[in-house]
Amino acid sequence: MGRVFVAGSINMDVVATADRHPKVGETVAGRQVLYFPGGKGANQAVAASRLGAGTTLIGRLGKDSFGAELRTFLGDQGIDLGYVVETAEAHTGTAIITVAEADNTIVVIPGANGLVGADDVEVVPLLAGDVAVSQFEIPLPSIAAFFQRARAAGAVTVLNPAPAQKMSGELLALVDILVLNETELGFLAGVDLSDSDEAARIIGAARQLQVREDQTICVTLGKRGVLALAGREEITVPGRAVKAIDTTGAGDCFVGALAAQIADDAPLRTALAFANAAASISVQRMGAGPSMPTAAEVKAVLGAS
Ligand code: RIB
Ligand code: NA
Repeated sequence: MGRVFVAGSINMDVVATADRHPKVGETVAGRQVLYFPGGKGANQAVAASRLGAGTTLIGRLGKDSFGAELRTFLGDQGIDLGYVVETAEAHTGTAIITVAEADNTIVVIPGANGLVGADDVEVVPLLAGDVAVSQFEIPLPSIAAFFQRARAAGAVTVLNPAPAQKMSGELLALVDILVLNETELGFLAGVDLSDSDEAARIIGAARQLQVREDQTICVTLGKRGVLALAGREEITVPGRAVKAIDTTGAGDCFVGALAAQIADDAPLRTALAFANAAASISVQRMGAGPSMPTAAEVKAVLGAS
């Protein structure tokens, strides 16, 4: 079984819950303020580790109390933190989140995540069969350096280009498995998919992003499941009807679970169904990092369906 290496962001999520979201310029009374471990990189590492994969996180924290709390939480999840560095030059990444009616808005202040450099990722001991995972909350040149290193070692690269931003063809060419939602797909492919759930249009847009014939593009569709284009093959995973209370980190749960499955040599279709079931569990719990399921919980859900 390979290991999962995640190079990415580590944030403290400061969450306000309310009955509804305020409009611009409006103030609403909230219910609670909650502090949850988050950050796309850390969330994906928590998911992979709880699901049984040997997992290493690469990233940066500030020398502050959020940083210390996050290190304790992540260590308790069994994640190797040997490549998580404390820096005095910035505060720990922080996300200000509003959760209302199961939907969220997020403002992320990168802080130390913005200082993750190529030298942080190039020292990581990746081997053939390992899985290298990243997202767009650390500098893109560092992701490219990480993936170059991973591919040279024979590892599989997984990119979650979130939050969406323009990326070079060179970076895209370093990706084996791209995992993104409809909004990110529309942005990167330059097409409006907002009022279209038509599979053909989604697959068409996914095909536009394939710069190598052997790439896999996975489009997560929330409660409508997953559509993937693996080379030329189309794979559909049906959605799961659950009552969501907080979708923060659901995409991260999917990515971490998929990486754990790939590291365990699972066939792609099995891996996608497993990751979809894992994400459906995470949305039924508050918070990002703490909402990630265990392998036993995912198997129970899959066995029951
Ligand atoms: O994907 C969810 C995550 O995005 C949150 O945990 C928050 O920290 C932001 O990075
Ligand atoms: Na959640």
